[in-house]
Amino acid sequence: MIKVHLKIQRYNPEKDSKPYFKDYAVECEPTDRVLDALLAIKGTLDGSLTLRKSCGHGVCGSDGMRINGRNMLACKVLIKNVSQPIVVEPLKGFKIVKDLVVDMKQFFEKYVAVKPYLINQETSPEKERLQSQKQQERFEDTTKCILCACCTTACPSFWSDPNYAGPASIVQAHRFIFDSRDQGGEERLNLLNQKEGVWRCRTIFNCVEACPRDINITKAIGEIKKDLLFKKI
Ligand code: SF4
Ligand code: F3S
Ligand code: FES
Repeated sequence: MIKVHLKIQRYNPEKDSKPYFKDYAVECEPTDRVLDALLAIKGTLDGSLTLRKSCGHGVCGSDGMRINGRNMLACKVLIKNVSQPIVVEPLKGFKIVKDLVVDMKQFFEKYVAVKPYLINQETSPEKERLQSQKQQERFEDTTKCILCACCTTACPSFWSDPNYAGPASIVQAHRFIFDSRDQGGEERLNLLNQKEGVWRCRTIFNCVEACPRDINITKAIGEIKKDLLFKKI
């Protein structure tokens, strides 16, 4: 076991006038995750520390936060791989609910707006709607999104314009626009062709660096831009 030092941003809007940092030290294994250290603090030192987590294994996307200045999932970062003190802050650009928990309402409204489900008016076939391997590969990368918001909250275009659809919702739109079984592509492309759609992306690449699922987000956004330019929807 080693002593691990953390500097955590705290903020309770019901009693604090502004966020502040608090220092903690807990015993952990170097192979523990930052999430383990946060839970150890909550369980043994300060029960008021508030954070969101669920699966603990990089699947649910609920523990996205800034760790040493970079957006990450706390359950995927090993303590031995980050320098100390480990500075932990909430995702940037969202309203803070308390400590490390941010308000995801607008994020999920943007997700719903791109219609993240299969649209197909034809009568359902008796079995599955067939698709070739090549057709599936067209959108496979964007199926991996777990809606953690690490990309959107790392994007300077989003920081300067919170109405920007943001990379996460564009990734979700891409997953269906390029699915050969889907017929709702035009609707989604029209939505993303607005001022706050894909054109707000300035190809900054922070989103790609932040994505814990290694999705090539900038490429996906570029494919939608290309579709809009050359199909002239
Ligand atoms: Fe998270 Fe990546 Fe999905 Fe963005 S694209 S929400 S970073 S999984
Ligand atoms: Fe933002 Fe990523 Fe575009 S960081 S500007 S969405 S390439
Ligand atoms: Fe589910 Fe980290 S707790 S992704």
